Amino acid sequence: MSSQKAPVIVVGSGLAGLTATYKLLQSKTPVILLEKLDKFGGNSIKASSGINGVLTSSQLAQSIPDTPELFLNDTIKSGKGLGDLVLQQRLVDDSQRAITWLQEEIKCPLNVVNRLGGHSERRTHRSDGIPPGFEIISKLQKAIMALNETNGGGLEVKFDSKLISIDKSSEGKIIGLNYLNMKDNTETYLQTSNLIIATGGFGFSKQLLQKYNPDLVSMPTTNGAQTLGEGQELIESIGGKLINMDQVQVHPTGFIKQDDPENNWKFLAAESLRGIGGILLNEKFERFVNEVGTRDFVSGEVMKQKGKKAYLVLNQDMYGELGFQIEFYMKMNLIKKTTIGEMFGDSKEEVKKLLVEYSSGQADQFGRAHKQHIFKQVADDTVIYVGEITPVVHFTMGGVKINEHGQVYNLEDKIIDGLYAIGEVSGGVHGANRLGGNSLLECVVFGSRAAESVLQGKL
Ligand SMILES: Cc1cc2nc3c(=O)[nH]c(=O)nc-3n(C[C@H](O)[C@H](O)[C@H](O)COP(=O)(O)OP(=O)(O)OC[C@H]3O[C@@H](n4cnc5c(N)ncnc54)[C@H](O)[C@@H]3O)c2cc1C
Ligand SMILES: *[C@@H]1O[C@H](CO)[C@@H](O)[C@H](O)[C@H]1NC(C)=O
Ligand SMILES: *[C@@H]1O[C@H](CO)[C@@H](O)[C@H](O)[C@H]1NC(C)=O
Repeated sequence: MSSQKAPVIVVGSGLAGLTATYKLLQSKTPVILLEKLDKFGGNSIKASSGINGVLTSSQLAQSIPDTPELFLNDTIKSGKGLGDLVLQQRLVDDSQRAITWLQEEIKCPLNVVNRLGGHSERRTHRSDGIPPGFEIISKLQKAIMALNETNGGGLEVKFDSKLISIDKSSEGKIIGLNYLNMKDNTETYLQTSNLIIATGGFGFSKQLLQKYNPDLVSMPTTNGAQTLGEGQELIESIGGKLINMDQVQVHPTGFIKQDDPENNWKFLAAESLRGIGGILLNEKFERFVNEVGTRDFVSGEVMKQKGKKAYLVLNQDMYGELGFQIEFYMKMNLIKKTTIGEMFGDSKEEVKKLLVEYSSGQADQFGRAHKQHIFKQVADDTVIYVGEITPVVHFTMGGVKINEHGQVYNLEDKIIDGLYAIGEVSGGVHGANRLGGNSLLECVVFGSRAAESVLQGKL
């Protein structure tokens, strides 16, 4: 009998797949990681707001009076009761452990704690001066390579390698898979009894949107072009159960790039731009919505405007808050620096009136209560920052039905032995709507749980 442990195969190198890989390597279990692109990170590397956690050291240091009950309630409420309570409870209960792991083992400070829409307290963590997705993925990648080094091996990464089929025995156990080398177009069969699928959502797939939520098929998306739902389809093809596939999160503000307006891929205009005081104007330069309402509400109102788009308008005080981000958007040609006179031309008097009224402290016409910065100065030569935005497909809540260990259910609600689905490929954690910051958290929580379940099983 060989003492060599059989490798676990992890598919997808976003936060979910990398978390599972790290935890397995840490217990000296060999891993083969398949990634169809030529680099790590998936959509995870683009995450810009942060990761949620309750009772974390950062929350305690800032005396934020949050509780697990409150976090759970917010998650259930945001999901409109459609979420799986067991998964949601696990998400919340493991959140402190997830943040502590990222802080202490992966060395992400995560010392800034923000409050996003739908949250009763500040609980979305990021580090100062660096976008959270980029920080977490780069540092986790380094930590994984370091583990491979101290272990004297155990990790094999196969880039340009696309999972194309999953193999099951007649008793229904996972026994292997086929992947396609996208460089030389060859197929290879690998044996394994533990397969962790972490291939992300399906926001870029027109075919799956057409199938599950045809209203959204012509809407652009913030998801990378690799986000095609291959994991969901392959798991379904071997008898796995998919749930809530019609539940797709639309984000109200994707930037329309002036020199490339038709591109299906859009850069996300972070929610914080509205949070710090940014307002939305339609093509007649009128306000039309409470800009800080929930994502689905604001999206719906933008969709009613001519061209399904709006201007996002910020001023110098708001720039003072998020300057480094706004500079980046300007460099990318997504936001331009201009003046009230230049931007609004013949309509400038009406717009000035609107801005004065907006900033007056009287009851807001659209019920907006939170105005971190207002327009204190309103003159022709007042500097403003303006971008054009349109709603975008942002996240797919539905996916593979799993238990709290990430194990996959079949149509009879029995576990498929040896198969895991973690991260955005799974369904049930978010119900009908995802709270900002909960998807990075789900990647760490269920990535860890899946690895632990594999380790407890018979390797
Ligand atoms: C612009 C943007 C900003 C966001 N900001 C936040 C935020 O601040 N906080 C938050 O919580 N969430 C945020 N989200 C959502 C969050 O980033 C994702 O839901 C999460 O990262 C998904 O992680 P994942 O590991 O499941 O999948 P991903 O990170 O998408 O990784 C999946 C990987 O699998 C690979 N893959 C796919 N199919 C195959 C196949 N057949 N074979 C091999 N490999 C395959 C892909 O190439 C990809 O690398 C944001 C999303 C976007 C798009
Ligand atoms: C959470 O929701 C339940 C049920 O609606 C309620 O009884 C409880 O008071 C809420 N807890 C908190 C902390 O808000
Ligand atoms: C892990 O270490 C082994 C042994 O040194 C090496 O052969 C392998 O290439 C390493 N894996 C990665 C992804 O670098």
